[in-house]
Amino acid sequence: MDIRILGVPMDLGADRRGVDMGPSAIRYAGLADQLERLGTGCTDGGDLAVPRPEERDPDGTGFDGGRVKFHRETREVCEDVTTAVRATVGGGETPLVLGGDHSIAIGTAAGVAAPDESLGVVWFDAHGDFNTPATTPSGNIHGMALAAILGHATFGGEAWGHAPAVAEENVALVGVRELDSGEREPLRDSDVSVYTMSDIDARGAPAVVEEALGVATDGTDGIHVSLDMDWLDPTEAPGVGTPVRGGVSYREAHSAMESVADFRDRLRSFELVEVNPILDDHNRTAELACELVASAFGKRVL
Ligand code: ARG
Ligand code: MN
Ligand code: MN
Ligand code: MN
Repeated sequence: MDIRILGVPMDLGADRRGVDMGPSAIRYAGLADQLERLGTGCTDGGDLAVPRPEERDPDGTGFDGGRVKFHRETREVCEDVTTAVRATVGGGETPLVLGGDHSIAIGTAAGVAAPDESLGVVWFDAHGDFNTPATTPSGNIHGMALAAILGHATFGGEAWGHAPAVAEENVALVGVRELDSGEREPLRDSDVSVYTMSDIDARGAPAVVEEALGVATDGTDGIHVSLDMDWLDPTEAPGVGTPVRGGVSYREAHSAMESVADFRDRLRSFELVEVNPILDDHNRTAELACELVASAFGKRVL
């Protein structure tokens, strides 16, 4: 497997400035070295350009009664992500997309698979990211990313972000512990398989993750893994913009990534988002992120 790192220093989709430094912190923690030690080819494709929030007007336009910050800019960056991801997959490499905030997933999902293919997605997150412009309490697009990919979020009547290759029946959301009131019903009514932290408490992380991978691989041409670092408990991953207590432990996260590695032949792309070095404790969240990526791409003790 040949991996291509694509950095997206995006922070237009989240409130806390600092997540734009994620790709740099993750590289500094030694990502490429760790991957090379696994024997996988690894090329660093550098960072895509992202406009600075200070130079733009955040309020943008009101959509469907709600407010969406930096809609136009986010859309432009996501289009570039789609182009880069598509070229990477087309060239036979596996994209490893580094955020930035989770809004970039909209660009990644659209680029990973052709519309006539089917792509399963495992979304590891404390949140549902299932808001729409009509329900968002924050106006932040990172909280709408999954809804947009599945075609639920219309932005002024336009279903921007919909990735037709991704069917809800092949999407698993793992580790959820915080949903906004407007996200619950659409998520319950959807065909997305939602595994909350209560499911992990009751059944254990390995069983839940195995089932989630089953959902994503069932009849699909490949899978995409989207890992929001706030999936982990903040004691392990303090450097994230929207931490929520009660997340998965260090061991549970590693075991989950080892399960992902068992499906390496199905893995089309991997995305790691929401690392915020400004809020971190001596880069430990970025270091952990590197370890988890290495596990997902096959690192073993023995
Ligand atoms: N639900 C909240 C919102 O819509 C927080 C979303 C956090 N999302 C994330 N990708 N960290 O603003
Ligand atoms: Mn997220
Ligand atoms: Mn999250
Ligand atoms: Mn769809």
